[in-house]
Amino acid sequence: MKKISLIVLSSGRGSNFQALIDWVKNESPPVEIKALITDNPNAQSIQRAKEADIDAEVVSYKEFEKKEKFHQEIFERIEKYEPDLIILAGYMRILRGEELFKRYQNRILNIHPSLLPQFKGSTNAQKDAFEAGLKVSGLTIHYVTENVDGGKIIYQEKVDISGCKDELEVAETILKREHLAYKGVIGRLAHEILKTK
Ligand code: GAR
Repeated sequence: MKKISLIVLSSGRGSNFQALIDWVKNESPPVEIKALITDNPNAQSIQRAKEADIDAEVVSYKEFEKKEKFHQEIFERIEKYEPDLIILAGYMRILRGEELFKRYQNRILNIHPSLLPQFKGSTNAQKDAFEAGLKVSGLTIHYVTENVDGGKIIYQEKVDISGCKDELEVAETILKREHLAYKGVIGRLAHEILKTK
């Protein structure tokens, strides 16, 4: 079976990454996860990669005095795998690099825990939603461009958060939907990409 290849970028817990690992393992979509790339040497996602026998590339942000060098290193690690898609899943840094965006135009995806443009650029959109007293928030999957959280929207889903007693519950409620939504979108894109291969 022909497959598309993914690289996942994650900075921490990596539950979205795990959901993708489980999806590939249990549902055999035409998708292969080539590697995890993280900016955080303590990310839980590294362990998840190891357990799934997936390469884990650690590019520690703190170790780079010149931040352009960090972004260049991320680009080079991605290039090693020549992925069809780059999946940002809880990657808490802004992706930078002219070359990267040129080479991977419409091939970098991000998931954001709000209905963009609401809480655009926020690193805690679930807290923002709770504090704003929203009854409905949601998630957005979009293409990544130099305009942070501003690339073309591929998919949005509303999530009822009216019963949530704190921001953690909001995050948890949205996260459950993220896990389902991301594999759905990536699966659909995989079939489209394979038609052109
Ligand atoms: C997810 O809720 C994701 O949408 C969010 O971080 C969480 C990561 O969880 N991403 C952002 O806020 C990006 N701005 P995970 O590490 O368990 O997948």
